[in-house]
Amino acid sequence: MTMRATVTGVGHYLPERIIPNSEFETSLDTSDEWIRSRSGIERRHFAAEDETTSDLATHAARRALENAGLAANDLDAIILATSTPDLTFPSAATMVQSALGMTRGFAFDVQAVCAGFIYAMSTANAMILSGQARRIMVIGAETFSRIMDWTDRSTCVLFGDGAGAVILEAQDGHGDKADRGILSVDLHSDGQHRDILYVDGGVSTQSTGHLRMQGKEVFRHAVEKLAKTATSAMDKAGISPDEVDWIVPHQANIRIIQGTARKLGLPMERVVVTVQDHGNTSAASIPLALSVGVENGQIRKGDVIVTEAIGGGLAWGAIVLRW
Ligand code: UT7
Repeated sequence: MTMRATVTGVGHYLPERIIPNSEFETSLDTSDEWIRSRSGIERRHFAAEDETTSDLATHAARRALENAGLAANDLDAIILATSTPDLTFPSAATMVQSALGMTRGFAFDVQAVCAGFIYAMSTANAMILSGQARRIMVIGAETFSRIMDWTDRSTCVLFGDGAGAVILEAQDGHGDKADRGILSVDLHSDGQHRDILYVDGGVSTQSTGHLRMQGKEVFRHAVEKLAKTATSAMDKAGISPDEVDWIVPHQANIRIIQGTARKLGLPMERVVVTVQDHGNTSAASIPLALSVGVENGQIRKGDVIVTEAIGGGLAWGAIVLRW
């Protein structure tokens, strides 16, 4: 018998306010046409003024619990991936723990920017495989609208707010690729690239700061590194591209998503795409796409899924799992 961390519940939440591309045309020298053709984004959601990352995360977490038929105290842990927590501390994860009425276990945040959900899933997987926890809620939640420079047209049109959550549970498998659950993990970072995607502020520099990005440079790294890490994760799992049912990529730019699929030799019909509706929601983008993919009938029990993401750091990685 081999232990596998298997998804048993999923849910997501998007703030009510939807911002179409056209809304930026009034304040910036930009157009719906430019944003659509360069990024694939058509609209995004922004959190209300009094709505925080932990609020979005709590909604998504409740839906994942409902989906799994579980109560908050059935969880052993919450791991929340975010770069936009409500406060410097305590962690947004402990805020979700309290909002859910969860009075046992432990909760903490993970920060790997757009790769945050992959890192959080990897951490949860390791904890389940080591026997430290049997049931972990993994959440990606962000309010990137709070760190936008609204005068910078090259970044502020690209990001959005939202949250997605999955519940990972220890289940017995046979140790082969037919098992449900996480089959492989591949993580990387390279701190030499900090200047191409960062926030120019933080606690230790005594400001909040705004997101700064050299889009072309990030783009250049993205397709190559994403295809490489996805291939490496598939190799580790013993899965070939023709066995993959769905790629669920980080949703930053449709051209990156298409370029990566092309490099992997997979048609766009096998890629879950939500970037048109959500924009780039950083660590929330993959669990959001997983949840939407399940809701609209694309992802079904037993499907082989490859998820991959890259973001600030640079930090990147991929996970292969059977749903
Ligand atoms: O999630 C973290 C990872 N992030 C990403 O993966 C983002 C990666 N990068 C990208 O998605 C793309 O590079 C962008 C969407 C950011 C930009 O697309 P691009 O094809 O690389 O455009 P560019 O940066 O080469 O800019 C082309 C032109 C520039 O004008 P000039 O210098 O050619 O005259 C920009 O000033 O487009 C201009 N531009 C805009 N024009 C209208 C930049 N932003 C805008 C805008 N509206 N919003």
